[in-house]
Amino acid sequence: MAAVPFIDLPLDKWRWHPSPLAGQVVYALTCSAEGELDVAPKSWIQMAGFGGPLLSLGCSRRHRTRDNIVSTGRFTLSFPTIEQARLARAVADAPRDERVAVSGLSPEESTSGGVAHLRECPAYCECELYREVALEGDEVLVLGRITRLAVHDGVVGAPTREAYALLAPGFFLEPGVMTGLAPAD
Ligand SMILES: Cc1cc2nc3c(=O)[nH]c(=O)nc-3n(C[C@H](O)[C@H](O)[C@H](O)COP(=O)(O)O)c2cc1C
Repeated sequence: MAAVPFIDLPLDKWRWHPSPLAGQVVYALTCSAEGELDVAPKSWIQMAGFGGPLLSLGCSRRHRTRDNIVSTGRFTLSFPTIEQARLARAVADAPRDERVAVSGLSPEESTSGGVAHLRECPAYCECELYREVALEGDEVLVLGRITRLAVHDGVVGAPTREAYALLAPGFFLEPGVMTGLAPAD
């Protein structure tokens, strides 16, 4: 087979088209020191270590999410289906006190002292701040230790293909473009 030539993409991430790196869309839930709940979509999210286990979340230092994580040491990630994730842009753009209503989802208290999760999302994890790594400019990488991972009843026992169809995660690729999972074998 003849070698296929490569085309360099710009290093400005906003201009990656098509983007070969997808990020799972999640809703980050955090609380201020006064107990006020904040919900924000995030997609720079990745497993980071078996030990912990740890995950990483790329975040702006100026975001309420980051302030709350640093002041309380806790956050929860709810994992929406791709359909639930379609409102992520509208949620991010909504006034802070309207975000939950715009998401169409319902916060439910944690039974283990963590931050609330979104009841209709098929999975969530509660995390404790493990470490914050300063990045370039105003960005930080939050490393979180997963203290609880919970999945809707009915997903866990389902056959593999069905289980992933129920989780149905959505992945951000570039502004306005999200993709789902190909059916699992
Ligand atoms: C699909 C999607 C993915 C996003 N991913 C991230 C992300 O990974 N990190 C980040 O800092 N902001 C991300 N944002 C932007 C934040 O959601 C947005 O700036 C929000 O207003 C931050 O809210 P906060 O101040 O409550 O944290 C994303 C927005 C959308 C719509």
